[in-house]
Amino acid sequence: MSLEIISNEFRNEDDLETIAKLSYLYFGDVHMVSFKQHRKNTYKEFKKPFFRKPNDYVIAYDNSTLLGFALHGKFDPDESDIYLEAIRQTNFNVQKNPRSIKLIAVNQELQHAGIGTQMTEKLIDDCYKLGEKQLFAGCWMGNGGKSYRMFTKLGFNRLKYFQNAYANGDSCIVVVKELL
Ligand SMILES: CC(C)(COP(=O)(O)OP(=O)(O)OC[C@H]1O[C@@H](n2cnc3c(N)ncnc32)[C@H](O)[C@@H]1OP(=O)(O)O)[C@@H](O)C(=O)NCCC(=O)NCCS
Repeated sequence: MSLEIISNEFRNEDDLETIAKLSYLYFGDVHMVSFKQHRKNTYKEFKKPFFRKPNDYVIAYDNSTLLGFALHGKFDPDESDIYLEAIRQTNFNVQKNPRSIKLIAVNQELQHAGIGTQMTEKLIDDCYKLGEKQLFAGCWMGNGGKSYRMFTKLGFNRLKYFQNAYANGDSCIVVVKELL
């Protein structure tokens, strides 16, 4: 395999479709119980984040085959409630206009091979170059909480645990990394 992680560029016309499918596979049933409203993740919903600005992404490719992706951007009103609640409850000293990792996923057959870690490292580097000081992520604790283990290994610190954060009862841990 020739793994390449690239930023803000698609190699195939149907990459967006592949990403929406992958997102729907993992997150279609685990919509977050927002503090303000109930929101259901539809397939169409997963295409939207890429058209909202400002949003950036990294993609893992094996030549032109998409293996995984991670999307990041400034807090947006649809997903910021849990972060704002975590910040409020912990009195965390937050930078102005913070940024978060919105979605991250790796093709099922290729998980636990370091791709998620490499994508996150690239994403962190991109955020640093954008001048960000902090990067937030909400770790879905369903499916073994793999992302939480990955993010903490990469220097993210646990900020707040939310029980029943998702409508199916799964919990979420908000983590944050200082980009120094
Ligand atoms: C979370 C995810 C993006 C991680 O990507 P990945 O390429 O599998 O992760 P890595 O191979 O870089 O592994 C990083 C760490 O994650 C944990 N991890 C990853 N896959 C795991 C598995 N199958 N079992 C147990 N731990 C696992 C481990 O702690 C691992 O470190 P280690 O290899 O030193 O044990 C990927 O598993 C995924 O797409 N999961 C489904 C979607 C999801 O949960 N997204 C996160 C939403 S918040």
